[in-house]
Amino acid sequence: MTKHLLGIRDLSREEIMQYLHAAKAHKAKVKNRNLRDNSLAGVSLATLFYENSTRTKMSFLLAGEYLGASVEDLNISTSSVMKDETLVDTGLMLDAFGTNIIVLRHSMAGAAHLLAKNVSCAVINGGDGSNEHPTQALLDAYTIWEHKHDFAGLNVTIIGDIANSRVARSNIFLLTKLGAKVTVSGPATLLNGNMRALGAEVTTDVKAAIKNADVIMVLRVQLERHKACQFPSLQEYTKFFGIDTELLQYAKQDAIIMHPAPMNRGVEISSRVISSGASVIFEQASNGVAMRMGILERLIS
Ligand code: CP
Repeated sequence: MTKHLLGIRDLSREEIMQYLHAAKAHKAKVKNRNLRDNSLAGVSLATLFYENSTRTKMSFLLAGEYLGASVEDLNISTSSVMKDETLVDTGLMLDAFGTNIIVLRHSMAGAAHLLAKNVSCAVINGGDGSNEHPTQALLDAYTIWEHKHDFAGLNVTIIGDIANSRVARSNIFLLTKLGAKVTVSGPATLLNGNMRALGAEVTTDVKAAIKNADVIMVLRVQLERHKACQFPSLQEYTKFFGIDTELLQYAKQDAIIMHPAPMNRGVEISSRVISSGASVIFEQASNGVAMRMGILERLIS
């Protein structure tokens, strides 16, 4: 096992399952708020986020704290990155301070791999551009595993801004490795990320895509990554591709609804769907802490 976690593409089925079991071992500690331990006492964790984050950053910081590690976030906007210090030099400084693990988020695909090549501590990819978001895919898989118990033959439909989504890519790598069938759907302009080559079915027909799905994963429209207009208006996106209770009538009775968040309520998903019995969105957030506890422990051990 490598000491870094840079992407799902590099992981074997066995390694993925080990991460799921690692999260399971920590789930009760997140649910029962008084169950903490000190397995990472003496370990130092630093988050280095060049892009905004609520879930990934906070859940890593809390996961570290719950395991007794010392945790620090480098605030990029008040750091010497503003004086043009490079990513590698910034990472080398954290490494020199004695940090054991750096969690990096960056807008450049490959940023975590670059950092890992240059520092001696462990690096976790907290999202690199439109490339990968491995810890999100692992927590998503853990949530699916809890509800569906097995991946073989499972139909997973991912709807939204597929072309720009590191979450979609990491989930396609992971779920196809474990034997699930993945279908991606959305406007044609947001499906151009060569998803067929990664092993996913591709369709612009959302109704058909959700009909046989056991899991429906909704993604945010990432306007900040669009270089040109990809659809006429958000209202039209919502009309044709937004997931609401009317569209969910085409889904299986026991389908679960997922979203990595942040969510744009009323755009790609309605508030009624978010709070429906099929939604496991807030479980995903909670499982994110358990998964990140498992990841930290595995990388340190
Ligand atoms: N899902 C996710 O990565 O959320 P953040 O951008 O808030 O970390």
